[in-house]
Parts: sequence; C-alpha cells; structure tokens
Amino acid sequence: MLIAPSVLSSDFSQLGNEVKRMDLCGADWIHLDVMDGHFVPNLTFGAPVIKAVRKFTDKPFDVHLMIDEPLRYIPDFLDAGADIVTFHIEAKSDPEKTIAAIRTGGAKPAVSIKPGTPAETVFPYLDKLFMVLVMTVEPGFGGQSFMEDMMGKVRAVKARRPDILVQADGGIHRGTIGTAAQAGVDVCVAGTSVFKADDAKQAISDLKAAAERK
Ligand code: DX5
Ligand code: ZN
Repeated sequence: MLIAPSVLSSDFSQLGNEVKRMDLCGADWIHLDVMDGHFVPNLTFGAPVIKAVRKFTDKPFDVHLMIDEPLRYIPDFLDAGADIVTFHIEAKSDPEKTIAAIRTGGAKPAVSIKPGTPAETVFPYLDKLFMVLVMTVEPGFGGQSFMEDMMGKVRAVKARRPDILVQADGGIHRGTIGTAAQAGVDVCVAGTSVFKADDAKQAISDLKAAAERK
C-alpha cells in the first residue's frame, strides 16, 4: 500500500518543512488538497503555494483538485510541479479535454468521484487514466469518518481495470486501511492519522502494516 499524507492536516505556517518531514517519515507521495470554496465549502491554497513547497522534497506531488473549473488551471498546476493531477468528474470541465491537458503537460491524470457518484461515471475514461480516486468522505474537510460502503466502487473499478491505481481519501487510519486494502485500494491518503500522530514515521509504517494484515 502506498501512503500519501494530506497536508490539509499539517501546520500551514510550516508547510515546506511539513512536506519535508513527511518525506523523511516514509511518505510515498505528498497529497495536496486544492479547494476553491465553490466545488466544496472550504478554501485552501492554489498553484503558487504548491510551487513554493515543491523544492522541499523529490517525492511525487499528488494534487487533488476540488475546484469547479479544473481545466482552466491545469497549466498552473503543471508549472507548479504536480506529478499526478486528480480532478472531480462532478466538476464543470470536460473530462476528455482535462485528461488531455494533464497528459500533454507531462503529468499523470486521475479522476475522483464523490460518495454520491457511481463508479460507472468514470468508465468511459479508464483507458486514459493513471488512477481513480474514490472519496471515502464528502470532500472538503479532514477528520471525517471512513465510509465503508464506498468499497463497492473500488471493487467495480478494479474488476474492470486491475492495472489502474485506485486511491481512497478520507477517514483512513489503522482501523480502516485493512478494509480499503481488501477491496483493492492501491494508494491511501491520510491526513489526520499521520499529521496529528505523535510519531508520523511510526504512523505511516503502522498504516502499511495494517494494510498488509488485511
Ligand atoms: C478531504 C480531503 C482529504 C483530507 C483527508 O476533502 O480530500 O485529503 O485531507 O483527511 P483525513 O485523512 O483526516 O480524513
Ligand atoms: Zn484529498
């Protein structure tokens, strides 16, 4: 299981150092949650902030766009150093064009689905995707409870395309990661359970061990 700590739960006054700390603690990717106050009822940061912290690690930047018009901002996020760009199928941009813009810019495209959105909505795009992000909470905030009933969607994507990565985001901790692993999740985002842990390195290795146990 790959672990992508979400900086949403980090100390924003130390964002660069927090990214570096996660690198040193064994994070596989760094997950960056971009929110525009429209697509979700919360605001975080945009491409300039991501660009500013890019130099603090060489680990892949996994950018999760919770914004209404992802296509409009893809060049900015590519320029900021995003390696994986995830946008929501529920957003206003044309999925084909958005995927093409991400790929043309040299990054890996991924599509996310909110809890109320069926897995089938991403099926037409699977050939062009690196990853599907199945939200296991309503997007917008950290610290919510894992929605186990989303695992059917994980299974549906993996059954159709075992080669495409599936990511779970929201409520991932030692008690829930086994369920995600069993359903076929390849990458787990973890905000609270890693950043708020006394020992983040231990938290990441505990998550990986718990995923192995299934
Ligand atoms: C929620 C974000 C998540 C969030 C997860 O909209 O996409 O990445 O940071 O936080 P936890 O792990 O605390 O549920
Ligand atoms: Zn996220």
